[in-house]
Amino acid sequence: MQKPYNKNKIGKFIGWGGEHLVFQYGDKQVIKFSLHVFISGKSAVDKIIKDYNIGNRYFNRYLLPTEILHYKKGKRCVEIQEKIECRFLEKKDLQIDLIKQQFNDIMKRYERIKKETGEVFDLFGREGLFRLKSDVISNILVTSSPSHKGGVNNKLILIDFTILKLDKIKIREIPIWLFIEWAKRRQKKLLKKFIK
Ligand SMILES: Nc1ncnc2c1ncn2[C@@H]1O[C@H](COP(=O)(O)OP(=O)(O)O)[C@@H](O)[C@H]1O
Ligand SMILES: [Mg+2]
Repeated sequence: MQKPYNKNKIGKFIGWGGEHLVFQYGDKQVIKFSLHVFISGKSAVDKIIKDYNIGNRYFNRYLLPTEILHYKKGKRCVEIQEKIECRFLEKKDLQIDLIKQQFNDIMKRYERIKKETGEVFDLFGREGLFRLKSDVISNILVTSSPSHKGGVNNKLILIDFTILKLDKIKIREIPIWLFIEWAKRRQKKLLKKFIK
């Protein structure tokens, strides 16, 4: 079957935040494969597209542009993004004015989305949720590109926008649903400490 991406361009493994397996793609991009898509097929692909559209509506300035390519009649997809030089947002970063301003703006939008849709999106990610004392938000990245290379520093970027909700729950998605319900509660708790 013809796939919409070039297998030969896939390079080294870069990371995994609980959902996506992320690999280098050519020189300047990354390619992401969602485990939820492998488990659930079309409904997961539809969710990725829907969430990205919501993300774009509320967080356009911060969301990293993502090309979502689907195949197998919409039952599979890959996501392609520019590869950015970045690190996770840490609590101590909020002492930097430029970062604090952007973070406050993201939180305003986070509250707006919650008010208007009743939903929240995954901020902490696997890397943030499972720490005892979490001081890392792994779905907000801080650019750390050296300025001598013409890069911009301390810009906040959302690399991964996943609404913490499943539309229709299939039996095999029950573990995911349980995880989401737990993650929502944990996120609320962590966020309070993070902001304080
Ligand atoms: N565009 C990107 N550029 C550079 N690294 C990335 C990019 N997207 C993801 N990564 C790396 O891969 C990890 C997992 O990506 P993410 O999209 O958050 O997946 P998940 O849905 O599993 O949380 C990130 O924490 C980051 O280290
Ligand atoms: Mg993530």
